Amino acid sequence: MKSGPGWKLDSEKCVRCGACIGDCPVQVLCRDAAGYPVMPRDLTLACIQCQHCFAICPKGAISMRHADPESAFSGDAQPDPAEIAALLKNRRSVRQYKPEPVSVEDMAKVKEILRYFPTGCNDHRMIFRIVEKTEEMAQFRKITMDLLSLLVRSKLLHIFYPSIKRFLEDIRNGKDVIYRDAPHMIVAASPKNAPCKKADPWIALSYLDTYLQSMKIGTCWCGFALYAFLFSRKLRKLLALPKGYKAEAVLLFGYPAVKYARAAEPEDVKIID
Ligand SMILES: Cc1cc2nc3c(=O)[nH]c(=O)nc-3n(C[C@H](O)[C@H](O)[C@H](O)COP(=O)(O)O)c2cc1C
Repeated sequence: MKSGPGWKLDSEKCVRCGACIGDCPVQVLCRDAAGYPVMPRDLTLACIQCQHCFAICPKGAISMRHADPESAFSGDAQPDPAEIAALLKNRRSVRQYKPEPVSVEDMAKVKEILRYFPTGCNDHRMIFRIVEKTEEMAQFRKITMDLLSLLVRSKLLHIFYPSIKRFLEDIRNGKDVIYRDAPHMIVAASPKNAPCKKADPWIALSYLDTYLQSMKIGTCWCGFALYAFLFSRKLRKLLALPKGYKAEAVLLFGYPAVKYARAAEPEDVKIID
């Protein structure tokens, strides 16, 4: 069962501005007779624990379970939009990686950022399965390539994916056309009853994708892996997701063995305005 938010108000600090009440997306805050915000007991379970009240309070008067205004990250920190635009323009799918694993420090940063990503209804039951050990990645690779070779031999793939013909030689030679020899992957998995079980994982790994590329860590989406997980019980066993969870998005990552001299020049997108 969902537990309450541990919502607390320091009335010494509160200036009764009402910003917290105005910004609450689920309207679980109201004013008491003296004008202070309160969360009525019967509404604590309706609170989605998004911490908007905590974040917006100009005086740091609100605290919650896991959220202390004294130690919170500054609301003023803001990167230069031109830098963000440059990052987005230069982001490329990396399909050639250095064999060495991502450093312990960088991996720690990856794990740290994951909890900041938004989810529908602020349901944070999504889990991230990170394949950190390159030996484990090799196991995924072996099972997947065996499966792929089988599908190629059965000629089944030729029907659904005719362009496989161009990759046959590579597959026969054992080239990793699925995980691209990436040293790591991260799989985002949702519980089957999450309100936004499809969107949350893609959003989360898209945020992570941008962050990783800002750290000069290469990334590549791996839609093929999702199919492999669907087909192979062995892969699902290796993933070892908790019961009731399904892998929804996969991102490969590692230090790139390539450098792009320029951004791509995409065609204009269609915008209706
Ligand atoms: C939903 C999705 C699934 C993808 N799956 C794969 C994949 O399985 N293998 C792969 O090499 N690239 C995959 N990609 C990467 C795209 O092919 C790539 O984004 C596209 O070619 C554009 O290149 P860029 O990312 O360098 O701009 C996927 C991308 C998306 C958005």
